[in-house]
Amino acid sequence: MANLWAKKSITELQKESAEETGGLKRTLGPMSLIALGIGAIIGAGLFSITGGAAANNAGPAVTISFIIAALACTFAGLCYAEFASMIPVAGSAYTYSYATMGEFIAWIIGWDLVLEYAVAAAMVSISWSRYLVKFLAYYDIYLPAAYTLSPFDTATLTDGTIVHGMINIPAVFIVVLMSLLLVKGTKESAFVNGLIVALKVAVVLTFIMLGWNYIDDANFTPYIPVNKGIEVTSAQSFFQFLGSSEFGHFGWSGIIRAAAIIFFAYIGFDAVSTAAQEAKNPKRDMPIGILVSLIICTILYILFAHVMTGVTSYTSFQGADGIAPVAVAIDHMGEVGANGLITPAFPWLNKIIILAILAGYSSVIMVMLMGQSRVFYSMSKDGLLPKVFSNIHPKFGTLAKSNLLLMVFVSLISAFVPSDVVGEMTSIGTLLAFVLVCIGVMVLRKTQPDLPRAFKTPLVPLVPILGIISCLGMMVFLPGDTWLRLVIWLAIGFVIYFIYGIKNSKFNNK
Ligand code: ALA
Repeated sequence: MANLWAKKSITELQKESAEETGGLKRTLGPMSLIALGIGAIIGAGLFSITGGAAANNAGPAVTISFIIAALACTFAGLCYAEFASMIPVAGSAYTYSYATMGEFIAWIIGWDLVLEYAVAAAMVSISWSRYLVKFLAYYDIYLPAAYTLSPFDTATLTDGTIVHGMINIPAVFIVVLMSLLLVKGTKESAFVNGLIVALKVAVVLTFIMLGWNYIDDANFTPYIPVNKGIEVTSAQSFFQFLGSSEFGHFGWSGIIRAAAIIFFAYIGFDAVSTAAQEAKNPKRDMPIGILVSLIICTILYILFAHVMTGVTSYTSFQGADGIAPVAVAIDHMGEVGANGLITPAFPWLNKIIILAILAGYSSVIMVMLMGQSRVFYSMSKDGLLPKVFSNIHPKFGTLAKSNLLLMVFVSLISAFVPSDVVGEMTSIGTLLAFVLVCIGVMVLRKTQPDLPRAFKTPLVPLVPILGIISCLGMMVFLPGDTWLRLVIWLAIGFVIYFIYGIKNSKFNNK
């Protein structure tokens, strides 16, 4: 009889990692790991989702949302760092749960991580496609809307006609390109990633420095736009408010919903942990990679959001422009003439920045796809997924077959699903993974207090508990249909586990 709660022992996992049974090459040092983190973190969340979150949910206070989301990520990041330094194997949260909460929970997490990695890659590819359309339009090249949008999206042409999308071809293109790069090799991928990260950070810094002089304090009044919903005076009125359409639109409920939405911008620091088996000195470098990349991005994000909502009113990011808020903000950096129109001070900047964003997104997609293949690698080695996912290419030493299968799966989402659905699914899936990692740290401290831990999460159980509360809190603020999709996704996972995983689990059938 299979035991759903069977736990792998940490010592066994450590042995697996030391023996390098997987055959993945250890090529990554601390700088590469930090770059991997930043490469995965800065992307569509900052350059795209921030606009909509400011316009619809938080106004200028989206900066506060960034701080709230950063706090939640810091708590979770500290928990990830303890695990990643102790169990430096490729499976990340999946493997940690196998060791602390047993096979069934591990499966749920592994399955849930698909939402984080594969679905996030799809989300970023969709946003990539939007920026590409915008970039080409500068050169009078107009891609037909039918081939750049999902069937659920529409575009309004200049003459007012509404066109329906059919398939998002540019999004598929970038997914295919990044998957092929991963097939080629982790080291090459890390090199390309390093270049892109430098470019991306340069863009963010340029935006902050040039924009700072054009901040107009008038744009910060009111800092927290008023919520028009009913006043909350009792538990009953709170639930009424929670169910109303005003919930999440400005005021504090808006700030927190915006935090849950822009949380997407932070996703990726944990992807560093999936590269543990390719790190030269994982015990020391895993916490460095995770925490340093998170700190750098948090500082950049807060400054970026401050400038973005300072140079123009948050209302400018409404509608279609919200998808490319950076371009909108740059157009507002300039002197206002007598006619009330702004003469942009940096008309050249938009093209360069969009080009850098296009390059920058590609590294996010790459690291997300890489993270996904690493999680499936571990699940496959444990027998919970078919062997093909742990097959290593004899020449390239990469998970080539897995990368190609994932390429097909992610391309289908990129081609046919709209971005808001994909973005919110990523956030809810990742938040769930973070909650379980925080629980895992507490469980392991109780069950195996004496295991050597190269990095220790400070103030346990306070930090993990705060991590759980803040991540669950943000989940509550996500829309109801996102919850429904999460439940459906997990239900599919249950079925696969009971049909396939439970029978093939190596650990359970020893
Ligand atoms: N954090 C990544 C992004 O914002 C997923 O694109």
